[in-house]
Amino acid sequence: MTLSPSHPLMDGRTAESPLISAYRGVKPSRRPVWFMRQAGRSLPEYRKAREGTGMLESCLLPELASEITLQPVRRHDVDAGIFFSDIVIPLKLAGVGVDIVSGVGPVLDSPVRTAADVAALPTLEDSALDPIREAVALTVAELGSTPLIGFAGAPFTLAAYMVEGRPSRDHMGPRSMMHADPETWQALAGWAADVSGQFLRAQIEAGASAGQLFDSWAGSLGRADYERFVAPASARALDGVRGLGAPLVHFGTGTSEILQPMRDVGVDVVGVDYRLPLDEANRRLGGGVPLQGNIDPALLTAPWEVLEAHVRAVVEAGSAAPGHVVNLGHGVPPTTDPEVLTLVVSLIHSIEP
Ligand code: CP3
Repeated sequence: MTLSPSHPLMDGRTAESPLISAYRGVKPSRRPVWFMRQAGRSLPEYRKAREGTGMLESCLLPELASEITLQPVRRHDVDAGIFFSDIVIPLKLAGVGVDIVSGVGPVLDSPVRTAADVAALPTLEDSALDPIREAVALTVAELGSTPLIGFAGAPFTLAAYMVEGRPSRDHMGPRSMMHADPETWQALAGWAADVSGQFLRAQIEAGASAGQLFDSWAGSLGRADYERFVAPASARALDGVRGLGAPLVHFGTGTSEILQPMRDVGVDVVGVDYRLPLDEANRRLGGGVPLQGNIDPALLTAPWEVLEAHVRAVVEAGSAAPGHVVNLGHGVPPTTDPEVLTLVVSLIHSIEP
């Protein structure tokens, strides 16, 4: 299991980039920064490019997905592109009826709640991922020495949408299923792990230099449930990419109490949300794990002096860790002024790494 010699991580393009260096705990030439949801509604060029095309349809048009991925890199001078796609794309490509409803999120035609529902889930054919591989290849050809980050949804977060059939606040459906019907839960989490794993592997093999597993809703779980019912499936999702040499990041929100088990699924870097200062996150992880995060997205609309002080505090707290990639503590809000993001990037790059 190795990457091809012409992969950006292997042929010298990205291996010593600031992002990959920091992910590996090596001192970077400048302090790296990118933003979750940097490709999206905060950019007028995104809204223009997407006009008349559905969200999931856009993800499956390689030239469009590539263009949208490149937009924030051109505009902000961030240190990575994040592949424009969605965590439910592997479901869609497997043939599960799912759409993204604007202002709502992922909605399934039929929720997956019983053993029979899970048994009826289709398999994801490898060839169905070809539009993803094509979009990644087009993108890395343009990015040069800037690494592309591939991603996938973690099994719990995917299952949260599948069981509820739509976004929910407390994720009662999947959390009940774990206890009420653990066998069905395991089968569902295993299915989600496999399709997410295939999706992430396709991106890394096609040219992504790092991978991020998003377990956005893992914070709704207590530590015992996380370790028993969720961590094994998240580890399984990464089994197909762990040996490839691309650094792996694991991120969720509200995860202050489960940072260590999230790291223990076998990742190189832990993404921290805005709730926990990075020096405390570093302490909880024993001081050996590079971190990513955690500017509070709410402060992007604060007066510049307030935001600047916050960014400097995040950078200072992050310097406790063996590596730090600056990011937000969750995604860019759609109403963010993109010029503020550009200013934040140049502020971060101006601080000695
Ligand atoms: O810039 C990037 O981060 C890359 C692309 C990306 C998207 N979704 C594009 C997108 C990534 C990495 C994701 C991951 C994703 N999708 C997650 C994990 C990260 C997180 O935010 O916690 C989750 C939970 C989803 C599911 C999802 N997709 C939600 C909750 C929504 C928002 C619904 C809404 O309209 O408010 C989406 C839609 C989505 N995914 C958009 C984008 C740019 C908005 C689509 C639009 O333009 O209308």
